[in-house]
Amino acid sequence: MPCLRLRLPLLPPPLLLLLLLPLPGAPEPGDDASQPDGAQEPLRGLRERLRAAAALSRRYWALLRCRVWPEDCERAEKAGAGLLGWSLPLLGQQYLDILTSWYCSFQACCNSGDCRISNNFTGLESDLSVRLHGQHLARELVLTTVKGYLEVPQPGKALALSFHGWSGTGKNFVARLLAENLYRDGLRSNCVKTFIATLHFPHPKYMDLYEEKLTSEIKETQEHCHQTLFIFDEAEKLHPGLLEALGPHLAQQTPKNHRVESPKTIFLFLSNLGGNTINAAVLNLLQARGTREEIKLDQLVPQLQAEIAESTDTGFGHSCLVKENLIDFFIPFLPLEYRHVRLCARDAFLSQGLPYTEAALDQIAKMMVYLPKEEQLFSSQGCKSISQRINYFLP
Ligand SMILES: *[C@@H]1O[C@H](CO)[C@@H](O)[C@H](O)[C@H]1NC(C)=O
Repeated sequence: MPCLRLRLPLLPPPLLLLLLLPLPGAPEPGDDASQPDGAQEPLRGLRERLRAAAALSRRYWALLRCRVWPEDCERAEKAGAGLLGWSLPLLGQQYLDILTSWYCSFQACCNSGDCRISNNFTGLESDLSVRLHGQHLARELVLTTVKGYLEVPQPGKALALSFHGWSGTGKNFVARLLAENLYRDGLRSNCVKTFIATLHFPHPKYMDLYEEKLTSEIKETQEHCHQTLFIFDEAEKLHPGLLEALGPHLAQQTPKNHRVESPKTIFLFLSNLGGNTINAAVLNLLQARGTREEIKLDQLVPQLQAEIAESTDTGFGHSCLVKENLIDFFIPFLPLEYRHVRLCARDAFLSQGLPYTEAALDQIAKMMVYLPKEEQLFSSQGCKSISQRINYFLP
């Protein structure tokens, strides 16, 4: 809600550094030298001084406070102050970075050095195996690629994953699980940005403007987070100009000399491109008496890539992202069967703490349309809107 954003005077950076100097009446750092825990005292003093200076520069104060005392920040967020929605000009961000790392250099902030980043791979693995249904390929590939990428100190390039499959198969869900396990605030984190093609870039005539905004938003996010996640939903509807503008961001990353680790960036592209090809291949394999879990990546990905490259009604397959191999992995999401829809219904009841019966799960699963006409094997909407449907079946 931009209209609620407070417009406060910006403190020029040199003044910010003055905050670090003792205020009149504040204890001199030297006074603490005799104490055994000398380093702690000026810190407590700093917190007080920052509080005192809050009236001068509430924005800096709020942002620093969010970084180093996240629990204070959460309280303020609940109170509706919307602090995380504020953005600082680039220079201000850099000063905030310096101030934060200076503070964190002698005070443990978080294991990762940045409390906003949680990188909980145990949680990710458990979520992908317990809460995601029927996607053994995506489950495996997402976990290994993301974990592998984030554990390399100098990856040198962004990680770009492209999710393909029918709607309701779990592409958005996996994106959310990633955000939730890699960032303390999940999709709301200021290190995570989601773009929906038809919502954020609807009008072809404003494409130049969108391009500029997108590029600067990516840069800005990378400036104040050393690990960022960008999600592009409906990627098949992204304008060719935007796809070209993304190219350089996927290809290389500018190293930051004041950090030992290079910045990490993950791009997710979600689309239903190639969904029909995936479904046809899965149907063939199942009809050849294979089991779903035996399906291997190389039985799907070559056809998937071929269809993407040949698709004429979208710019994605012809963009530099695909042509210059900037997409690291194409990840197929398989069409969901009756038993998977049942599991989604069960999860929906459980997540709302509601009781359910086996009969209700069957009834909900039967409400979906199954394709193809003869086999009636795959839910045409996957698990989409299952959570709304459970309301009709409350005992
Ligand atoms: C990681 O996620 C798991 C499962 O959600 C949770 O139990 C665990 O506490 C998390 N670990 C950390 C360090 O947050």
